[in-house]
Amino acid sequence: TVKKSKRDLLSLNDLSTSEFSMLLERSARLKTELKSGGNAPSLSGRSLGMIFEKASTRTRVSFEVGMFQLGGQALFLSPRDIQLGRGEEMSDSARVLSRFVDAIMVRTFAHQKVETMAHYADAPVINGLTDLLHPCQVLADIFTFEEKRGSLQGKKVAWVGDGNNMANTWIQAAVRYGFHLVIATPSNYKPDEMILTQARQELSTSSADASVTLVRDPREAADQADLVTTDVWTSMGQEEEQRARIEAFQGYQVDGGLMAAAHSDALFMHCLPAHRGEEVTAAVLEGPQSVVWDEAENRLHIQKAILEWLILGE
Ligand code: CP
Ligand code: NVA
Repeated sequence: TVKKSKRDLLSLNDLSTSEFSMLLERSARLKTELKSGGNAPSLSGRSLGMIFEKASTRTRVSFEVGMFQLGGQALFLSPRDIQLGRGEEMSDSARVLSRFVDAIMVRTFAHQKVETMAHYADAPVINGLTDLLHPCQVLADIFTFEEKRGSLQGKKVAWVGDGNNMANTWIQAAVRYGFHLVIATPSNYKPDEMILTQARQELSTSSADASVTLVRDPREAADQADLVTTDVWTSMGQEEEQRARIEAFQGYQVDGGLMAAAHSDALFMHCLPAHRGEEVTAAVLEGPQSVVWDEAENRLHIQKAILEWLILGE
């Protein structure tokens, strides 16, 4: 028998536009199914290994509960406890874990590490956040937007603040899924140059109603936006830069004034955890346009769709 080549979700470039739509539709159905009594045990007998080299609340709990609700189980693998933390190679861990589990989720620092894991693992690998990308979160965000406002395609998304892993992922989403992204960052905190180059290349040959624009002024980004989104100024692993970052990001706070520049029915999103009074005011985070709690919940539903797609291959 010929083994079907396995798929991974390391970046949103791993998805075609129609796979985006398939995952969004499937997650909506799984959400409805869950709320009307429970999910069918589509992953009964299956296991997900989860390696966390950074802290997590949402990613850990949503993957673990998601596998449980689909009839499977998840294993939380802390580097403090597994041999990876004592120097066992990622490539060796990949091959060993693949003999036990049906999928592997990795949260780590260098993006290269999830690529190594995916290269050596027979099991599908899911990126649960790297320094470069956070694909599960942006899929959950698109799902959340579409639940509330209909298709995101062709709409305007404003990113305000740090050009970090979330910003990089929004760039890939804009290109692949088709919407207009305007990113406002200080000049020293732009998104990743390689991600931008890839995006420009893909946009130059695509017919999608999509664009990626970098600006300095948050108002220019927020102007008539359908969605305003931001993230912490200091990501995991950058703790030593915190003071310099707080200074550099003055003027990049999402507040009521900035939200007023967007469409009157614009939504506000933040992947959380949030720092009130830094990247966003408490009033916006807790205000009527904020959908951050639904956004967090939707990690559960979209990841179930991802798990079924990767493990069952459908
Ligand atoms: N948004 C997100 O990924 O949260 P955690 O770091 O809590 O997993
Ligand atoms: N940019 C943040 C996201 C946390 C979910 C970080 O990498 O720490």
